[in-house]
Amino acid sequence: MSYHNILVSKEHNIATITINRPSKLNALNRATIDELHRAFEEANTDSDVKVIILTGSGEKAFVAGADISEFADFDVKEGAKLAKMGQELVFDFIENLSTPVIAAVNGFALGGGLELAMACHFRIASDNAKMGLPEVSLGVIPGYGGTQRLSQLMGKGRAMELIMTAGMISAEQAALSGLVNHVTSMEDLLPMAQKIASKIMRNSPNAIAAAIKAVNANFKDGVNGYEVEVTEFGNCFGTDDFIEGTTAFLEKRKANF
Ligand code: COA
Repeated sequence: MSYHNILVSKEHNIATITINRPSKLNALNRATIDELHRAFEEANTDSDVKVIILTGSGEKAFVAGADISEFADFDVKEGAKLAKMGQELVFDFIENLSTPVIAAVNGFALGGGLELAMACHFRIASDNAKMGLPEVSLGVIPGYGGTQRLSQLMGKGRAMELIMTAGMISAEQAALSGLVNHVTSMEDLLPMAQKIASKIMRNSPNAIAAAIKAVNANFKDGVNGYEVEVTEFGNCFGTDDFIEGTTAFLEKRKANF
């Protein structure tokens, strides 16, 4: 598939999706949202792909937000549609993928950029990264899930302050508040993501998909996460991965999923 705003590569069972509009600090325009949807869908259905890494091109930005030039003249209806479509096509879509997605945050992750990183299953960051949700400085609020996921990740009080002040936090501060899992140098960012991906890949893809569903269930309205866990746990017993995993343990060898 050909793309204009993103780059996609596949190596050692890892698909790397790179947002590639460096002259606009990788801001998310409509075309990029559409391309991200297609690329994630394609990677998730490719049985060779075990982990997806999402990053931005260049050393300055992961993504500096939704493309402000595209929505500056929107009315109420268009604003709501922008948020709804983006959430469905990319943000909720990524969160609910069965393939693990790691965000490698390589610079500014602002507004829609931080929301994109937060939709991924977890995040690592380069030490120059800066994160925030500055939407209130533009007279809007985060519309791609930011008000929900920031509170989930760093707690309500910290999220309120970051959103209300339209401030930015450093990678170190983001790590201390649970927003990112690891901070490393820019050069080590992708190697670190790949190293974590290779650890994930040793494990059962079916069980990982079930774990993603069960963990996500905790954050869905009207869904009982414990019940989802029971169902997903039970379903695992019907998979070849379960037979292979338990047999390998009993035979004192590494499982081959
Ligand atoms: N939407 C559209 N274009 C954007 C953008 C965005 N969210 N963020 C950056 N750009 C563009 C700039 O307009 C500029 O384009 P130009 O060279 O054609 O004028 C280019 O990217 C480089 O950005 P610039 O502002 O010159 O870089 P900087 O180093 O001075 O500042 C930021 C970097 C990230 C602090 C600044 O770009 C910024 O505040 N961006 C908007 C962040 C934001 O509010 N995001 C939330 C959107 S909902």
